[in-house]
Amino acid sequence: MFALLPTLALLALPALAQNSSTTATEKDIEAIEAHFTQAQLVPELFEEFDPEGILTVSFGGQDISPGDKLDQTAVASSPEITVTPGPDSGDSDDFRAGRLYTVLMADANAVGTDQKTTEQTRHWLVNGVSVSGDSAPYALNYTGATTITDYAGPGPFEGTGSHRYVIALYEQGSDFAAPSNLSTAGVPLGTWFLPNYVSEAKLGDLLAANYFQVENGQATSTAESTTAVDSATLSGAASTTGSGSASAAQISGGASASGASRSGSAGASATSAAASAAATSAQSGAGKNGVAMGMVMGAVGVVGAVIGAAL
Ligand SMILES: *[C@@H]1O[C@H](CO)[C@@H](O)[C@H](O)[C@H]1NC(C)=O
Ligand SMILES: *[C@@H]1O[C@H](CO)[C@@H](O)[C@H](O)[C@H]1NC(C)=O
Ligand SMILES: *[C@@H]1O[C@H](CO)[C@@H](O)[C@H](O)[C@H]1NC(C)=O
Repeated sequence: MFALLPTLALLALPALAQNSSTTATEKDIEAIEAHFTQAQLVPELFEEFDPEGILTVSFGGQDISPGDKLDQTAVASSPEITVTPGPDSGDSDDFRAGRLYTVLMADANAVGTDQKTTEQTRHWLVNGVSVSGDSAPYALNYTGATTITDYAGPGPFEGTGSHRYVIALYEQGSDFAAPSNLSTAGVPLGTWFLPNYVSEAKLGDLLAANYFQVENGQATSTAESTTAVDSATLSGAASTTGSGSASAAQISGGASASGASRSGSAGASATSAAASAAATSAQSGAGKNGVAMGMVMGAVGVVGAVIGAAL
Protein backbone atom coordinates (compact mmCIF):
# COMPACT_ATOMS: atom_id res chain seq x y z
CA MET A 1 0.00 0.00 0.00
CA PHE A 2 2.69 2.52 1.02
CA ALA A 3 4.81 1.38 -1.90
CA LEU A 4 2.05 2.61 -4.17
CA LEU A 5 2.01 5.97 -2.51
CA PRO A 6 5.66 7.01 -2.24
CA THR A 7 4.87 10.70 -2.42
CA LEU A 8 2.44 10.54 0.43
CA ALA A 9 4.89 8.58 2.52
CA LEU A 10 7.57 11.20 1.95
CA LEU A 11 5.26 14.01 2.90
CA ALA A 12 4.49 12.25 6.13
CA LEU A 13 8.15 11.90 7.15
CA PRO A 14 8.75 15.26 8.82
CA ALA A 15 5.80 14.68 11.10
CA LEU A 16 7.09 11.40 12.43
CA ALA A 17 9.34 12.84 15.09
CA GLN A 18 6.32 14.50 16.63
CA ASN A 19 5.12 11.13 17.87
CA SER A 20 6.44 11.07 21.38
CA SER A 21 5.52 7.57 22.41
CA THR A 22 7.81 8.01 25.41
CA THR A 23 7.49 10.99 27.66
CA ALA A 24 9.32 12.01 30.77
CA THR A 25 7.15 12.30 33.85
CA GLU A 26 6.44 15.37 35.91
CA LYS A 27 8.63 13.81 38.56
CA ASP A 28 11.52 13.49 36.12
CA ILE A 29 11.19 17.17 35.30
CA GLU A 30 10.99 18.15 38.95
CA ALA A 31 14.02 16.02 39.73
CA ILE A 32 16.27 17.71 37.19
CA GLU A 33 15.02 21.10 38.34
CA ALA A 34 15.83 20.12 41.92
CA HIS A 35 19.31 19.00 40.91
CA PHE A 36 20.05 22.33 39.26
CA THR A 37 18.82 24.22 42.29
CA GLN A 38 20.70 21.94 44.65
CA ALA A 39 23.91 22.49 42.72
CA GLN A 40 23.16 26.23 42.77
CA LEU A 41 23.34 26.32 38.99
CA VAL A 42 20.01 28.05 39.54
CA PRO A 43 20.35 30.91 40.23
CA GLU A 44 24.15 31.19 39.89
CA LEU A 45 24.24 30.43 36.17
CA PHE A 46 20.61 30.29 35.08
CA GLU A 47 18.06 32.70 36.50
CA GLU A 48 15.47 30.02 36.02
CA PHE A 49 15.26 26.53 34.62
CA ASP A 50 11.92 25.27 33.43
CA PRO A 51 12.79 22.34 31.17
CA GLU A 52 10.46 20.92 28.55
CA GLY A 53 12.24 17.60 28.49
CA ILE A 54 14.97 15.40 29.87
CA LEU A 55 18.43 15.42 28.35
CA THR A 56 20.00 12.00 28.57
CA VAL A 57 23.77 12.28 28.34
CA SER A 58 25.83 9.20 27.74
CA PHE A 59 29.62 8.91 27.80
CA GLY A 60 31.00 5.74 26.30
CA GLY A 61 27.58 4.12 26.41
CA GLN A 62 27.04 4.98 30.08
CA ASP A 63 24.17 7.33 30.94
CA ILE A 64 25.07 9.88 33.57
CA SER A 65 22.84 10.79 36.49
CA PRO A 66 22.63 14.52 37.17
CA GLY A 67 25.56 15.68 39.29
CA ASP A 68 27.59 12.50 38.87
CA LYS A 69 31.21 12.94 39.86
CA LEU A 70 33.10 11.56 36.93
CA ASP A 71 36.69 10.89 36.14
CA GLN A 72 38.30 13.21 33.61
CA THR A 73 39.17 10.26 31.39
CA ALA A 74 35.55 9.09 31.29
CA VAL A 75 34.39 12.36 29.78
CA ALA A 76 37.28 13.00 27.41
CA SER A 77 35.18 12.36 24.30
CA SER A 78 31.89 13.94 23.35
CA PRO A 79 28.75 12.31 24.72
CA GLU A 80 25.78 10.82 22.93
CA ILE A 81 22.68 12.84 23.72
CA THR A 82 19.00 12.09 23.46
CA VAL A 83 16.03 14.15 24.54
CA THR A 84 12.74 12.92 25.96
CA PRO A 85 9.84 15.38 26.02
CA GLY A 86 8.20 16.06 29.35
CA PRO A 87 4.46 15.87 29.96
CA ASP A 88 3.91 19.54 29.11
CA SER A 89 5.74 19.10 25.86
CA GLY A 90 3.51 16.37 24.50
CA ASP A 91 1.31 18.55 22.39
CA SER A 92 3.82 21.27 21.73
CA ASP A 93 6.37 21.79 19.06
CA ASP A 94 9.38 21.74 21.35
CA PHE A 95 10.99 18.66 19.90
CA ARG A 96 10.27 17.74 16.34
CA ALA A 97 11.91 17.35 12.97
CA GLY A 98 12.44 20.64 11.20
CA ARG A 99 13.33 22.57 14.35
CA LEU A 100 16.85 23.67 15.13
CA TYR A 101 18.69 23.66 18.42
CA THR A 102 21.99 24.74 19.91
CA VAL A 103 23.81 22.32 22.17
CA LEU A 104 26.72 23.37 24.33
CA MET A 105 28.80 22.48 27.34
CA ALA A 106 30.08 25.04 29.82
CA ASP A 107 32.18 24.79 32.95
CA ALA A 108 30.33 26.68 35.67
CA ASN A 109 33.22 26.17 38.09
CA ALA A 110 32.72 25.21 41.73
CA VAL A 111 29.63 25.99 43.76
CA GLY A 112 29.84 29.51 45.10
CA THR A 113 31.78 30.97 42.20
CA ASP A 114 30.19 34.23 41.17
CA GLN A 115 29.11 33.46 37.62
CA LYS A 116 28.45 37.15 36.98
CA THR A 117 32.11 38.03 37.41
CA THR A 118 33.79 34.74 36.57
CA GLU A 119 33.36 33.56 33.02
CA GLN A 120 32.41 30.02 32.21
CA THR A 121 34.67 27.92 30.02
CA ARG A 122 33.10 26.99 26.71
CA HIS A 123 33.85 23.30 26.10
CA TRP A 124 31.48 22.65 23.22
CA LEU A 125 29.19 24.69 21.01
CA VAL A 126 27.13 23.38 18.11
CA ASN A 127 24.53 25.43 16.27
CA GLY A 128 21.87 24.10 13.93
CA VAL A 129 21.39 20.72 15.56
CA SER A 130 18.17 18.83 14.83
CA VAL A 131 16.43 15.85 16.41
CA SER A 132 15.83 12.50 14.74
CA GLY A 133 13.75 9.47 15.42
CA ASP A 134 10.27 8.18 14.90
CA SER A 135 9.58 8.24 18.59
CA ALA A 136 11.16 9.65 21.74
CA PRO A 137 13.78 9.61 23.06
CA TYR A 138 14.99 11.57 20.07
CA ALA A 139 18.65 11.55 19.14
CA LEU A 140 20.44 14.79 18.39
CA ASN A 141 21.29 14.93 14.71
CA TYR A 142 24.37 16.93 13.72
CA THR A 143 23.87 16.66 9.97
CA GLY A 144 23.98 20.21 8.68
CA ALA A 145 24.96 21.60 12.06
CA THR A 146 27.91 23.93 12.62
CA THR A 147 30.34 22.94 15.34
CA ILE A 148 31.66 26.28 16.48
CA THR A 149 33.79 24.81 19.25
CA ASP A 150 34.73 21.15 19.11
CA TYR A 151 34.09 19.16 22.24
CA ALA A 152 37.01 19.51 24.64
CA GLY A 153 36.93 17.31 27.72
CA PRO A 154 37.15 18.79 31.21
CA GLY A 155 40.53 19.45 32.78
CA PRO A 156 40.01 21.53 35.89
CA PHE A 157 42.94 22.92 37.88
CA GLU A 158 44.12 20.82 40.74
CA GLY A 159 42.63 21.95 44.02
CA THR A 160 39.94 24.18 42.54
CA GLY A 161 37.08 22.08 43.77
CA SER A 162 34.41 20.17 41.99
CA HIS A 163 33.62 21.85 38.69
CA ARG A 164 30.07 21.73 37.36
CA TYR A 165 29.89 20.91 33.65
CA VAL A 166 26.54 21.84 32.20
CA ILE A 167 25.28 20.43 28.93
CA ALA A 168 22.41 22.50 27.63
CA LEU A 169 19.99 22.31 24.74
CA TYR A 170 18.54 25.63 23.61
CA GLU A 171 15.82 26.32 21.14
CA GLN A 172 17.35 27.99 18.07
CA GLY A 173 14.60 29.91 16.36
CA SER A 174 14.55 32.03 13.23
CA ASP A 175 15.79 35.04 15.23
CA PHE A 176 19.05 33.27 15.93
CA ALA A 177 22.09 35.33 14.99
CA ALA A 178 25.48 33.94 15.91
CA PRO A 179 27.81 36.64 17.31
CA SER A 180 30.46 37.34 14.68
CA ASN A 181 33.30 35.85 16.70
CA LEU A 182 31.33 32.65 17.32
CA SER A 183 29.79 32.15 13.91
CA THR A 184 32.19 29.81 12.15
CA ALA A 185 33.62 26.42 12.93
CA GLY A 186 36.95 26.04 14.66
CA VAL A 187 36.78 28.58 17.48
CA PRO A 188 38.91 26.98 20.19
CA LEU A 189 37.87 26.37 23.75
CA GLY A 190 37.73 29.63 25.62
CA THR A 191 35.84 31.51 28.27
CA TRP A 192 32.60 33.42 27.96
CA PHE A 193 29.59 34.54 29.88
CA LEU A 194 27.03 31.96 28.80
CA PRO A 195 23.96 34.09 29.58
CA ASN A 196 25.43 36.92 27.47
CA TYR A 197 25.95 34.56 24.55
CA VAL A 198 22.39 33.29 24.86
CA SER A 199 20.93 36.77 24.72
CA GLU A 200 23.34 38.08 22.06
CA ALA A 201 22.67 35.11 19.80
CA LYS A 202 18.92 35.43 20.47
CA LEU A 203 18.63 31.81 21.41
CA GLY A 204 15.22 30.68 22.61
CA ASP A 205 14.31 28.74 25.71
CA LEU A 206 16.62 26.43 27.59
CA LEU A 207 14.66 23.29 26.71
CA ALA A 208 16.67 20.67 28.56
CA ALA A 209 19.96 20.34 30.41
CA ASN A 210 22.04 18.00 32.49
CA TYR A 211 25.29 18.31 34.37
CA PHE A 212 28.14 16.33 35.87
CA GLN A 213 31.13 17.16 38.01
CA VAL A 214 34.85 16.66 37.65
CA GLU A 215 37.39 17.42 40.35
CA ASN A 216 41.15 17.35 40.14
CA GLY A 217 42.83 16.57 43.47
CA GLN A 218 41.75 17.88 46.83
CA ALA A 219 40.07 21.22 47.15
CA THR A 220 42.29 23.75 48.90
CA SER A 221 39.48 25.82 50.31
CA THR A 222 36.79 24.97 52.79
CA ALA A 223 34.40 22.50 51.34
CA GLU A 224 30.74 23.30 51.21
CA SER A 225 28.75 20.14 50.95
CA THR A 226 25.23 19.82 49.70
CA THR A 227 22.88 16.97 50.31
CA ALA A 228 21.54 14.75 47.59
CA VAL A 229 18.16 15.38 46.08
CA ASP A 230 15.64 13.06 47.70
CA SER A 231 13.21 12.09 44.96
CA ALA A 232 10.64 11.00 47.53
CA THR A 233 10.15 14.61 48.54
CA LEU A 234 9.25 15.74 45.06
CA SER A 235 5.57 16.43 44.70
CA GLY A 236 5.48 14.83 41.29
CA ALA A 237 6.33 11.53 42.95
CA ALA A 238 2.68 10.74 43.36
CA SER A 239 1.82 11.40 39.77
CA THR A 240 4.13 9.18 37.84
CA THR A 241 2.40 8.84 34.54
CA GLY A 242 3.85 7.75 31.27
CA SER A 243 6.85 5.60 30.61
CA GLY A 244 9.64 8.05 31.16
CA SER A 245 13.07 6.87 30.27
CA ALA A 246 14.63 9.37 32.59
CA SER A 247 15.60 7.79 35.83
CA ALA A 248 14.38 10.05 38.58
CA ALA A 249 14.64 7.11 40.92
CA GLN A 250 18.38 6.93 40.51
CA ILE A 251 19.16 10.38 41.73
CA SER A 252 21.41 9.69 44.63
CA GLY A 253 24.69 11.25 43.62
CA GLY A 254 23.44 14.75 44.17
CA ALA A 255 25.63 17.74 44.11
CA SER A 256 28.45 17.12 46.48
CA ALA A 257 30.23 20.21 45.48
CA SER A 258 33.31 20.98 47.42
CA GLY A 259 35.94 23.64 47.28
CA ALA A 260 33.32 26.30 47.23
CA SER A 261 33.79 29.97 46.87
CA ARG A 262 37.25 30.49 45.61
CA SER A 263 36.19 33.58 43.75
CA GLY A 264 37.10 35.74 46.71
CA SER A 265 40.70 34.64 46.59
CA ALA A 266 41.04 35.75 43.02
CA GLY A 267 39.83 39.23 43.79
CA ALA A 268 36.81 41.05 42.54
CA SER A 269 38.42 41.74 39.20
CA ALA A 270 38.81 38.09 38.29
CA THR A 271 37.53 37.80 34.77
CA SER A 272 37.94 34.13 34.15
CA ALA A 273 38.17 30.70 35.58
CA ALA A 274 41.81 30.75 34.62
CA ALA A 275 42.66 33.90 36.51
CA SER A 276 40.68 32.75 39.50
CA ALA A 277 42.07 29.27 39.54
CA ALA A 278 45.59 30.50 38.96
CA ALA A 279 45.38 32.65 42.05
CA THR A 280 44.05 29.79 44.10
CA SER A 281 46.66 27.35 42.94
CA ALA A 282 49.49 29.78 43.38
CA GLN A 283 48.39 30.50 46.94
CA SER A 284 48.49 26.84 47.73
CA GLY A 285 51.94 26.53 46.28
CA ALA A 286 50.71 24.00 43.80
CA GLY A 287 51.34 26.17 40.76
CA LYS A 288 52.68 24.61 37.64
CA ASN A 289 54.26 26.44 34.75
CA GLY A 290 50.94 26.97 33.08
CA VAL A 291 49.54 28.34 36.28
CA ALA A 292 52.38 30.79 36.72
CA MET A 293 51.84 31.89 33.15
CA GLY A 294 48.21 32.48 33.96
CA MET A 295 49.23 34.70 36.86
CA VAL A 296 51.58 36.78 34.75
CA MET A 297 49.28 37.08 31.84
CA GLY A 298 46.29 37.78 34.01
CA ALA A 299 43.15 38.84 32.29
CA VAL A 300 44.97 39.66 29.07
CA GLY A 301 45.92 36.09 28.38
CA VAL A 302 42.85 34.47 29.75
CA VAL A 303 42.16 32.22 26.81
CA GLY A 304 45.78 31.20 26.47
CA ALA A 305 46.02 30.51 30.16
CA VAL A 306 42.89 28.42 30.09
CA ILE A 307 44.17 26.34 27.25
CA GLY A 308 47.56 26.03 28.87
CA ALA A 309 46.51 25.26 32.36
CA ALA A 310 42.89 24.70 33.15
CA LEU A 311 40.02 23.62 31.05
C1 LIG B 1 3.26 6.71 18.11
O1 LIG B 1 3.96 5.55 17.70
C2 LIG B 1 3.51 4.37 18.36
C3 LIG B 1 4.41 3.22 17.94
O2 LIG B 1 5.13 3.53 16.79
C4 LIG B 1 2.04 4.12 17.99
O3 LIG B 1 1.58 2.97 18.65
C5 LIG B 1 1.23 5.32 18.44
O4 LIG B 1 -0.09 5.17 18.04
C6 LIG B 1 1.79 6.60 17.85
N1 LIG B 1 1.11 7.73 18.42
C7 LIG B 1 0.70 8.76 17.70
C8 LIG B 1 0.07 9.87 18.47
O5 LIG B 1 0.85 8.83 16.51
C1 LIG C 1 19.70 13.66 10.23
O1 LIG C 1 19.27 14.78 9.48
C2 LIG C 1 19.48 14.66 8.10
C3 LIG C 1 19.14 15.99 7.47
O2 LIG C 1 17.89 16.44 7.85
C4 LIG C 1 18.65 13.51 7.57
O3 LIG C 1 18.86 13.37 6.18
C5 LIG C 1 19.07 12.24 8.27
O4 LIG C 1 18.24 11.18 7.88
C6 LIG C 1 18.96 12.42 9.79
N1 LIG C 1 19.56 11.27 10.45
C7 LIG C 1 18.83 10.38 11.09
C8 LIG C 1 19.57 9.29 11.77
O5 LIG C 1 17.60 10.46 11.14
C1 LIG D 1 33.33 37.94 21.24
O1 LIG D 1 33.20 39.34 21.28
C2 LIG D 1 32.58 39.80 22.48
C3 LIG D 1 32.41 41.29 22.36
O2 LIG D 1 31.53 41.56 21.33
C4 LIG D 1 33.44 39.45 23.67
O3 LIG D 1 32.81 39.86 24.83
C5 LIG D 1 33.63 37.96 23.70
O4 LIG D 1 34.53 37.63 24.72
C6 LIG D 1 34.18 37.44 22.39
N1 LIG D 1 34.17 36.00 22.42
C7 LIG D 1 35.17 35.29 21.97
C8 LIG D 1 35.01 33.82 22.06
O5 LIG D 1 36.18 35.77 21.52
